[in-house]
Amino acid sequence: MTENIFSGNNSIQDADKMAVELARFSQNLNFNEEQILDMVQETIIPVEQFFANYTCAIYEIETKFKVLNEQFSLIYDGNPIESIKSRVKDYDSIIRKVIKKNLPRTLEAIEENINDIAGVRVICAFEEDIYRLAKCLLQQDDITLIRQKDYIKDPKPSGYRSLHLIVSVPIFLENEKKDVKVEVQLRTIAMDFWASLEHKLKYKKNIPPDKMKMLTKELIDCANISASLDSRMQNVRNYILKSSDQ
Ligand code: GTP
Ligand code: MG
Repeated sequence: MTENIFSGNNSIQDADKMAVELARFSQNLNFNEEQILDMVQETIIPVEQFFANYTCAIYEIETKFKVLNEQFSLIYDGNPIESIKSRVKDYDSIIRKVIKKNLPRTLEAIEENINDIAGVRVICAFEEDIYRLAKCLLQQDDITLIRQKDYIKDPKPSGYRSLHLIVSVPIFLENEKKDVKVEVQLRTIAMDFWASLEHKLKYKKNIPPDKMKMLTKELIDCANISASLDSRMQNVRNYILKSSDQ
């Protein structure tokens, strides 16, 4: 029943709506109540389990970062992590990606090919903490690195900077252990501030092309200023750390 769970009806937004649709459809075919319930269960449970796996993987990764944050605060001055924001990608965005990537509409294909269903964004004050945290995460023996993209060393042409890791983490369910993929984005406060504004601009449809060109250029400029700010703040911090050692 997990086969073709998404097929034929992309307007279905979530598991509950799917249940209602299925029940309505089944009533027309004169199925009895028990048969309808069975079908709903068969359809809904794999989808709910699919999303629950990603929620659990987020718990695992968040906990790992919280533990590192606690431990780092004992060694260095203050907590390296300012905040952690996590999300499971919603149905609509998954379907849009399935269509864009021309994937088979099965849970298996989605799990195999879409790497950012679970997303954890870790925001730090300083750039060096990003690399320190990433290194500590990756050296844990239950974490497998699938892909790493360093947009801090090589920013995108837009000016976007962040360190991206696609990792796999095991979750322990009632009777099974399952490896689940999570996209981890590590950024400084300055990088996050920039990315949020640039994201807003990307989705604005009513800006005239000449204004858009000007704003895009302005944002590239802001990205350079933000990179320079990160680097200068890091230098000041290093100096403070060094002088408090003496
Ligand atoms: P998708 O973009 O998710 O299909 O995958 P990809 O393999 O191209 O991943 P990439 O690592 O380039 O980007 C993944 C995510 O990083 C995006 O979903 C955004 O959250 C963020 N990101 C990447 N590029 C930009 C950018 O130019 N601006 C902003 N604001 N965010 C970006
Ligand atoms: Mg994405």
